[in-house]
Parts: sequence; structure tokens; C-alpha cells
Amino acid sequence: MAVAIKKWVIGNWKLQGSQVFNKELVEGIRASLPALDNRVGMSVCPVFPYLIQLADLLAGSSMVLGAQTLSEHAKGAYTGEVAGPMLKDVGVALVLVGHSERRAYQGESNELIGKKVRAALDAGLLPVLCIGETKQERDAGETRSVLTGQLDAVLSLLDLAKEDMVIAYEPRWAIGTGVSASPEMIAEVHGFLRSYLIGKAAAFGARTPLLYGGSMNGSNADSIAAIKDVDGGLIGSAALKADEFVAIYQAVLACA
Ligand code: 13P
Repeated sequence: MAVAIKKWVIGNWKLQGSQVFNKELVEGIRASLPALDNRVGMSVCPVFPYLIQLADLLAGSSMVLGAQTLSEHAKGAYTGEVAGPMLKDVGVALVLVGHSERRAYQGESNELIGKKVRAALDAGLLPVLCIGETKQERDAGETRSVLTGQLDAVLSLLDLAKEDMVIAYEPRWAIGTGVSASPEMIAEVHGFLRSYLIGKAAAFGARTPLLYGGSMNGSNADSIAAIKDVDGGLIGSAALKADEFVAIYQAVLACA
């Protein structure tokens, strides 16, 4: 699946929501943004049980339905898992893979995350690969090697001439803390990621959207969206408030 959209604002709802809450949130977003600009995609990623409700709520809108993870298997005796073809079947188009909370709490390894990205592509879903370093890794000067390790485990399984994904850089220490990485740090890492990917395959590296995630909100979105090689955001808590999420979308659109 080719990435037709170069910039994205994606809401990761994590383990939150209810049918009433979801409806109010989506209606709030759609009321303030009746039409999206086709240069910037918007997606929301609820927990699995609400995907079908969201598919209904998003009908007639160009907002994209996303999921928060998937199984590395397409089907079989894997109790509790959800497979890519099933996500596709209920209207999902995009899936987060390797979020730091899954790496930390579910023990997802780079190897498993590679298999999940492969499973997403095989099911016709757009994977959003999440990468990021811990505070200790940053302090030890290991940021670049951690990120390239996370990338390499996945890139080696892709046909970079034909296949696409979105990459979200989310420094773990900036997630859910209310303090985003500084614009200098973001610029440094995104510039590095861009040149690393171009070094792997020029066209792939140039076209892959690079999102920032970690305490991005309506107040800091203008300055983050304006950074070179930042192609939008992966948003946690601010994605649960319609006005904040819309403000972030508008900030990214202003830089498109
Ligand atoms: P916060 O925006 O709440 O820091 O979460 C970021 C994130 O983890 C998005 O995937």
C-alpha cells in the first residue's frame, strides 16, 4: 500500500474510551473540522471492541480508522489475539506497531515487531512503526543505536522499493509526562532518521512520513510541526479532547 498521504495526525486512545465517550469525541472533532485537507491524514486508534462503533462514526468522513496493535499471525490457535485480515475486515486501514508501552509491558521485541509489521503489510494495512529511546539510553549516548536497531529489525523484512510505512519517533521519557522533547532534540533525531532511511533506500527514505510523539498538544503543536522532517504527530492524551486534537491537526496543516 503506497503512502499517498505525507503528513499525519494520529490519535492513540490507548486503554481509554466508552461508547458514549467515543461518540462525543468523534462528533466533536467532526463538528469543528467538517472536511479534512487531503495533504494531512487524520486517524484515531481505539481499543479493539470499539472498532466497529468507530467505523460507523467515521462513515462519510475521510478520517482513517486505526488499531493499536495486531497479531503476527493471520489466523489460528492464538487465543486473545486479533489478526490483520480481521482488522481490515472491519474497516481498519492503519495499525500502530511496537508502541513503547507494548515493548515495555508486553515484552515485545524488535524481532516480534518486525513480524507484526510484516503481518500488517500482508493484510493490506499501513503500519505505523513506533520507535524511541529510554531516558537511560539517551543519557548513555545510545539514542541513535537504539533507534537504528529498532528500525533495522523491520526494514530488513520490507521491500523498500514497493512497500511503505509510517514511522513515529516517541522518546519514552516524553510519553505521558506533559513535557515533550525540545525542538532541538526533535530536529536532531528526525534529521538523523531521515538521512539513515535515505541511506537504506533513497526514495523510501524521502517519502516515509516521520511523526513525533510524546506530550504533543494544542499548545506546542505549532512549534513541533514546523520542525524540518517532522511530518505530523502521534498523540496520546491530547487526542482524547476534540479541541486539542483539532488544534494539532491545524498546526500540522499550516506546515503542509
Ligand atoms: P502522550 O501524548 O499522552 O504523551 O502519549 C504519546 C503516545 O504514546 C502516543 O502513542
